[in-house]
Amino acid sequence: MRLIYMDHNATTPMDPRVLEAMLPYMTEHFGNASSVSHPFGLDAADAVNRAREQVAAVLGCSVEEVLFTSGATESDNTAIKGVAWSAAKPGGHIITTRIEHRAVLESCRFLERQGFRITFVGTDAEGIVDPDDVKKAMTPDTILVSVMHANSEIGTIQPVEAIGAIAREAGVAFHVDATQTFGRSPWTLPRSGRTSSLSPGTRSTAPRAWGGST
Ligand SMILES: Cc1ncc(COP(=O)(O)O)c(C=O)c1O
Repeated sequence: MRLIYMDHNATTPMDPRVLEAMLPYMTEHFGNASSVSHPFGLDAADAVNRAREQVAAVLGCSVEEVLFTSGATESDNTAIKGVAWSAAKPGGHIITTRIEHRAVLESCRFLERQGFRITFVGTDAEGIVDPDDVKKAMTPDTILVSVMHANSEIGTIQPVEAIGAIAREAGVAFHVDATQTFGRSPWTLPRSGRTSSLSPGTRSTAPRAWGGST
């Protein structure tokens, strides 16, 4: 029986070019990128910095804004809890959607138990979030809007530019879970003054346990 793999939204095989580029860093240049007091560490740090430059070029952000994580779940948790816990006042209001991945939904439910208020905006019959619904949900206490780019199950692409503009106008942080689109479709960060987006690689022929937040 010939098996056909049809779950590329869960993970992809690694591109041989990625493997080839990475292999020397597993064997020959194995230094700790934080050990910058010797050439082994400096070699590894150079490679991480080059990777950071490449990711920044894809996202259209600066290198300082790229933070590597172990994957999308960690990136979602870091972005959402990071914004919530760094808010000037405790509590606060977060807007997200009903069709987010569990990494986002569970982060929001966790914060709800901590006293944050969450609005879960719905979609139309086609699975698209109406930016107007996000606008209507805004309150003076809103600290974060979190909307995914592409949904992994139904494939809808959300109007993140329009929603980002609403967040920017309100001076509210905007988080986009771009797990399914980073490296697959042209993508620049919708800016909101304080934007965080994420870009894991396991859906884009990168190795397992690779992710990023900006
Ligand atoms: C939109 C989205 N966000 C987050 C995740 C979680 O990714 P990971 O399992 O790499 O942490 C997935 C997984 O498929 C996803 O599709």
